[in-house]
Amino acid sequence: MATQGHMHGRIGESIKRKEDGRFLRGRGNYLDDVELPGMLHMAILRSPHAHALVKSVDTAAASAMPGVIAVVTGELMAQHKLAWMPTLSYDTQAVLATDKVRFQGQEVAAVVAETKYQAEDARNAIVVDYDVLPAVTSPQQAKEAGAPLIRDDKENQKDNHIYHWEAGDQETTKAAFAKADKVVRLHTFYPRCHPAPLETCGCIADVNGATGKATIYMTSQAPHAIRTVFALVTGLPEQNIRVISPDIGGGFGNKVPVYPGYVVATAASLLIGRPVKWVEDRTENLISTGYARDFHMTGDLALDKNGKMLALRVHLDSDNGAFFADAQPSKFKAGLFHIVTGSYDIPTAHITADGYYTNKAPGGVAYRCSFRVTEASYLIERLVTNAAIELGMDQAELRMKNFILPEQFPYHSATGWEYDSGDYPKAMNVALDKLGYDDLRKDVAARRKKGEITGIGVASFTEVVGAGHGAEFDILGLRMFDSAELRVHPTGKAMLRMGTKSQGQGHETTFAQIVTEELGIPAADVAVEEGDTDTAPYGLGTYASRSTPVAGAATAMVARKLRDKARKIASHLLEAAEEDLEWENGKFYVKGSPDRAKTIQEIAFAAYTNIPEGMEAGLEGVHYYDPPNMTYPFGTYAVVVDVDKGTGQVKVRRMVAVDDCGVRINPMIVEGQIHGGLTEGFGIAFMELITFDADGNCIGSNFMDYLLPTAWETPHFELGETVTPSPHHPLGAKGVGESATVGSPAAYVNAVIDALSPYGVTNIDMPVTSDKVWSALRGAGVNE
Ligand code: CDP
Repeated sequence: MATQGHMHGRIGESIKRKEDGRFLRGRGNYLDDVELPGMLHMAILRSPHAHALVKSVDTAAASAMPGVIAVVTGELMAQHKLAWMPTLSYDTQAVLATDKVRFQGQEVAAVVAETKYQAEDARNAIVVDYDVLPAVTSPQQAKEAGAPLIRDDKENQKDNHIYHWEAGDQETTKAAFAKADKVVRLHTFYPRCHPAPLETCGCIADVNGATGKATIYMTSQAPHAIRTVFALVTGLPEQNIRVISPDIGGGFGNKVPVYPGYVVATAASLLIGRPVKWVEDRTENLISTGYARDFHMTGDLALDKNGKMLALRVHLDSDNGAFFADAQPSKFKAGLFHIVTGSYDIPTAHITADGYYTNKAPGGVAYRCSFRVTEASYLIERLVTNAAIELGMDQAELRMKNFILPEQFPYHSATGWEYDSGDYPKAMNVALDKLGYDDLRKDVAARRKKGEITGIGVASFTEVVGAGHGAEFDILGLRMFDSAELRVHPTGKAMLRMGTKSQGQGHETTFAQIVTEELGIPAADVAVEEGDTDTAPYGLGTYASRSTPVAGAATAMVARKLRDKARKIASHLLEAAEEDLEWENGKFYVKGSPDRAKTIQEIAFAAYTNIPEGMEAGLEGVHYYDPPNMTYPFGTYAVVVDVDKGTGQVKVRRMVAVDDCGVRINPMIVEGQIHGGLTEGFGIAFMELITFDADGNCIGSNFMDYLLPTAWETPHFELGETVTPSPHHPLGAKGVGESATVGSPAAYVNAVIDALSPYGVTNIDMPVTSDKVWSALRGAGVNE
């Protein structure tokens, strides 16, 4: 008979993470831990200039250095038709420069040598003759008449404009603005920031000359998609390509794109016949791999005199860098920016966006974000707080007045999206209660009377995660379903293989818990494997909080398929009709006779030893899940700050975060995800900045310049929750991984703006550093 013990690890239990046993002991198996016999090492030479003609590349001295096996140039790659590669946004990107370099840090040549040090020494001996050109470092410069043409490699490209995109309804929006009592405008820049995973990107390419099989170990969040792209780019048969993503030390979107280093290492291994390892250093990662954001946004919110929102108009200019390589669904040029109407019932909206090439690294990756949702959420939440300040209303009250109400779901937004579910007032109330909002507002007023600068910021974000229904969502044409394959062995232990790839989110635990819930096998008995394209079913990978909404659903569905078969076997074993059987706690029993029961373990054994006549042996299956809609997690974050008048330093006194991600599979893991996201949001709001000087030199190429928050700076977080299940997800779960990074920057900045509002300050762009706050206070005449 099954006992509760058999079911250990069901949904809702905060069991410890199974993977932590090896991680905490330092026994993870990351890319750099992999050593293959005969392995060579590759180092990449990068451009010191942001924009320059490449006149010559002299490799003679480098080739003669000790240990050097090959020096690879753009010219050599061009001979193999590999000097350029397609990007995830249907553009092309240089693998190794042949004509020009277009950003500082661009790949120019590579050295393959016996050791890493030999490769790096020889790389430094390559001599490149550059003819430096003026650099373009912003969309504003990119669109100036006479601006240098960055993509002169592209036929028909006469300027630096990439795309124009629109959503919503221009006419109805215009009419609503004409009737408004109040229009609040915010111009804000969401600066370039970098996912900066602790482990940088890299690969080991091992092309076996005898079999023709290319095995590529790679720090990839999407191994299957990468395999398909490799097959298309190199012409190698897909079955001869095996991509293995070992343990990954953080990705946050940075490990989705295909980087030139992967292609060069694979080509080098193919030509040389030995495995080639390439691992970036920190600076290479920060200057050349997928950055995020870099959106210049202007938002206008139209309201009536009572604070009811009437319409929203937004224009944004996107800085896409030298190659349009945004990792986002093909159909959505500006990502999922449509969600910019947020949690509010705004009857009409019109959004326009223009993308530009600049002399910066490409990217536009969804850094802990669903394809530009973060920028959208930031804009609307900042606008709403500014509107409250301008109207002299309380920011929580203005939000309450305009929330989409629970009974309005499924809700059709003005930009054409169907929100699946939500209860925004409830999340807001839980957050305000936790904070003691009414008392705090009085406290703020009292402190201000004493001359203190203090404020409260609120953000009630809505997100859209779980990309996505295949009819709308694809990457390079590949529909964004995901998959799970479940095999139950005769002893009742199971193997779950998935198309996703954890980078630290705890998939080995949470997906095992879904099997426990659905099939009664304890989580400890379910091994979860991801990341090997030779063994895992095809899937689009892990980013944009899509694993639980899509692959989590696939897991539930495949477990249910197996439970249906288990019922048939139980009926045979118990000699009872299927419809007379009840399922509970991992066993089938005969209705009214709970002692006549078969556990899932007994049934699994029978699946291989004692099946009914005519039934296929075994207990295994696969499910490909194409979600009917996205899931819409949400929450309210509230922050209290104190600002030092003399230095401009901001101290976060309180941070309350109430999240609703539907049903929580493992509450402890969910809280861990939220802590991580709030920390990253804090870094983006106050510390992190990658900027460029007039020549296009990247400022922010190391952790002394690009400041990540440590435990020292990070505030204490007070978490709360509400649970509004997704109506279409088999478990009612929504994604959560990115919620806190999406929702929190606006809450932090709103708190600072609330604190500075008595001085007439309406905006400070992130990162809100002490010197910016100090300058704003001085500008407002505060001279202490
Ligand atoms: O795609 P990614 O794994 O980054 O994001 P996610 O689907 O939001 O999941 C992050 C982690 O939180 C995973 O281990 C999930 O299974 C877990 N999670 C959960 O336990 N309950 C939820 N409702 C959502 C996520």
